[in-house]
Amino acid sequence: MSAKTYKNLIGGEWVGSRSGQTFENLNPADTRDVIGVFQRSDQRDVDDAVAAAKQAFERWRLVPAPKRAEIIFRAGEILQERKEEYARQMTREMGKVIKETRGDVQEAIDTAFYMAGEGRRQFGATVPSELPSKFAMAVRVPHGVCGMITPWNFPMAIPSWKLLPALVCGNTCVIKPAEDTPLSTLNLVKALVDAGLPKGVVNVVTGFGPEAGAPIVESSDVRAMSFTGSSEVGRLVGEAAARTFKPCSLEMGGKNAIIILEDANLDLALDGVLWGAFGTTGQRCTATSRVIIQKSVYRQFADRLIYRAQRLKVGSGLDESADIGPQINQQQVETTGKYVEIGKREGARLELGGKRVTGPEYEHGWFFETTVFTEVDPGMRIAQEEIFGPVVSLIPCENFEQAIRISNRIPYGLSSAIYTRDVNRAFLAMRDIDAGITYVNAPTIGAEVHLPFGGTKATGNGHREGGMGAIDFYTQWKSIYVDYSDRLQRAQIDTGE
Ligand code: UN1
Repeated sequence: MSAKTYKNLIGGEWVGSRSGQTFENLNPADTRDVIGVFQRSDQRDVDDAVAAAKQAFERWRLVPAPKRAEIIFRAGEILQERKEEYARQMTREMGKVIKETRGDVQEAIDTAFYMAGEGRRQFGATVPSELPSKFAMAVRVPHGVCGMITPWNFPMAIPSWKLLPALVCGNTCVIKPAEDTPLSTLNLVKALVDAGLPKGVVNVVTGFGPEAGAPIVESSDVRAMSFTGSSEVGRLVGEAAARTFKPCSLEMGGKNAIIILEDANLDLALDGVLWGAFGTTGQRCTATSRVIIQKSVYRQFADRLIYRAQRLKVGSGLDESADIGPQINQQQVETTGKYVEIGKREGARLELGGKRVTGPEYEHGWFFETTVFTEVDPGMRIAQEEIFGPVVSLIPCENFEQAIRISNRIPYGLSSAIYTRDVNRAFLAMRDIDAGITYVNAPTIGAEVHLPFGGTKATGNGHREGGMGAIDFYTQWKSIYVDYSDRLQRAQIDTGE
């Protein structure tokens, strides 16, 4: 059976790449299964998409925000109707288990309903003028064309975090989804189109970063840029965006820790670590990749974690009984394997997993065993660098103060967590952990869409997605003064002295 060919969306038309080149999207659980053939776009396709978005902006910006919001609301309803279909397609193209891909679509639905509400908000400020009979206010205005480059791990949720606030604020968009998961992003955009989004307001170009992503960032007609991915690529995106003076939101890596103190509910902490470390096969920027455990409960906790982790079922994400799906591709599985070797060389103790899963049902997919390292030193590379696989490092610590120091001793600052019943320590952790997100008695994953999402240090460059953070990024302030005194009034000069 030959796979379906999917096209780019430019100016409201489904079109092939100018070069005529395409690429295949494969199922990571079984690479013989071709999800579809997608357009391999380059500079020319991006130029077309940016031109279409620029033209569409002239009308879209004039559509009242509550009307723009109605389309987004309708798209949310369409996603609800198609949730199961889109989740199944997402598991096929991305690998994570079906209950998680349902969650991914749900995250887009939640974002749609939240951002639809923003159609009647987007509050500005009116303030008194220093001069009589003069009115002063600041209003939010859109940037124009916004460029977006999105990752494969949340192939619908993360594009929704970017597209939907951008749209409700009156921007038009050019998005390049990850080459591993273009279908889920096209499905999201299809819902918007079916909800009545005018032509050219969202444009999709599929393909690879250097060919189809870089031209978006470099275009001087793209007035804001949003990227989610590795810190390595984020640095390139940020540098390129700076050359055309565009605001640029970078959402990058993490090395997130759960702290477990001796007074914690250890059953609860155990469930939290299993979900935080192995959910999405560890391929979340919020994944729990370090667990910092007070020595008095360390061994007991490690034994229980290993026992439970060993019993998690690795398999095709479409199998409802599977807990953990494959990794996304060969490169990612090799990176995980490489870090296992690094951890062993560094002297950490590999107590569970550490290699690809073998057996006939696994041979065509990118499956990796749930992997637990113990006796990890906080300075080791496996405790410092983002692995993006099902690997967790258990770090012993003496006390609360040391746990906080270890938690902060990394280049990243995305998510963090503490398990304790001590309310004072919980509040100290909320204050002292250097990260964009802190959970108390819950794991590092599971952010809700209406709160700001993002992090410190090498995780981000100060912007936030989600909730108000997104509205802040996709608008700029315009200050307006209306003088109704009918005479020249000079600010700072006519002081009445
Ligand atoms: C990511 O890991 O790239 O908080 C995003 C969470 C999800 C989003 C994760 N809602 O884990």
